Amino acid sequence: MCNPAHFQIRKVTREFNVNGEKLTALDAVSLDIAEGEFVTIVGASGCGKSTLLRLGAGLDTTYSGRISHEGKVVTGPSLDRGMVFQEPRLFPWLTVERNVALGLENSKFTKSEKKRLVEEHLELVGLAGFARAYPHQLSGGMAQRAGIARGLVNRPNVLFLDEPFGALDAITKARLQDELNDIWARERITMVLVTHDVEEAVYLGDRVVVMSPRPGRIRDIVAVDLPRPRERTSAALARVRTRVLESLNSTESKPSVGPRLVEGERGSKSGPLRPAVALAN
Ligand SMILES: Nc1ncnc2c1ncn2[C@@H]1O[C@H](COP(=O)(O)OP(=O)(O)OP(=O)(O)O)[C@@H](O)[C@H]1O
Ligand SMILES: [Mg+2]
Repeated sequence: MCNPAHFQIRKVTREFNVNGEKLTALDAVSLDIAEGEFVTIVGASGCGKSTLLRLGAGLDTTYSGRISHEGKVVTGPSLDRGMVFQEPRLFPWLTVERNVALGLENSKFTKSEKKRLVEEHLELVGLAGFARAYPHQLSGGMAQRAGIARGLVNRPNVLFLDEPFGALDAITKARLQDELNDIWARERITMVLVTHDVEEAVYLGDRVVVMSPRPGRIRDIVAVDLPRPRERTSAALARVRTRVLESLNSTESKPSVGPRLVEGERGSKSGPLRPAVALAN
């Protein structure tokens, strides 16, 4: 893995004003992400995960501290940084293919390249037959898959994913996890993925960042030093999962919102539908 200073988050604090009260969503959060790394983030609801991703993607710039990408301070959104949101956020008046094509707006590709990329990505997420459908004609999971296709279609340098598979059924979820792993291994896109599923976090991540709430802080970082492709049911992966859960539980001794973390949540028994590709490094 090269360039450990690829994406830097340094002492980032984000405060909100809620009914005249100061709410510290993130408190002096620091994280260095290496080029091509796959970082996963877990933590209780409200601990600032989405806030951190929005800041990283440049969608929110009201913070103290420093966020830089390849040495340049992040001052706003960029084609180099993609985002897959917690909810699909499709435009209801555009077809699925046109929604996905929005991810290519202002990009350097020609019209025919854009068309091919959109088709490839609809195929990738299993929506090839729904290119001309409108969002209201999709199920919730299908809409989320269209959102994933839009985030990936431009092949950003860093992709932030906010619980991208949270609404999916177990089989689709396992398949898309493996697809995402393949894309990451092939394209070397740096990925930062938020999830409530600890199993997903350890299956996909090089490191799992454990956050604690009120104020949002990084509580722990657990390295997943396991070769890929990983075996979902392996004892080694289970040990890392237990370590992450222990860290989360100590973090969440007094949760004010019930955490949605479930050990062995969906998809654990079915295993991958096809093996993830091996990494070059
Ligand atoms: N625009 C906003 N205005 C006021 N408060 C906000 C805003 N956005 C987030 N917050 C607050 O910041 C805190 C962190 O929110 P955030 O959405 O980052 O949490 P999260 O970890 O992503 O939670 P979840 O797992 O439920 O998605 C919460 O207390 C939330 O109420
Ligand atoms: Mg969130």
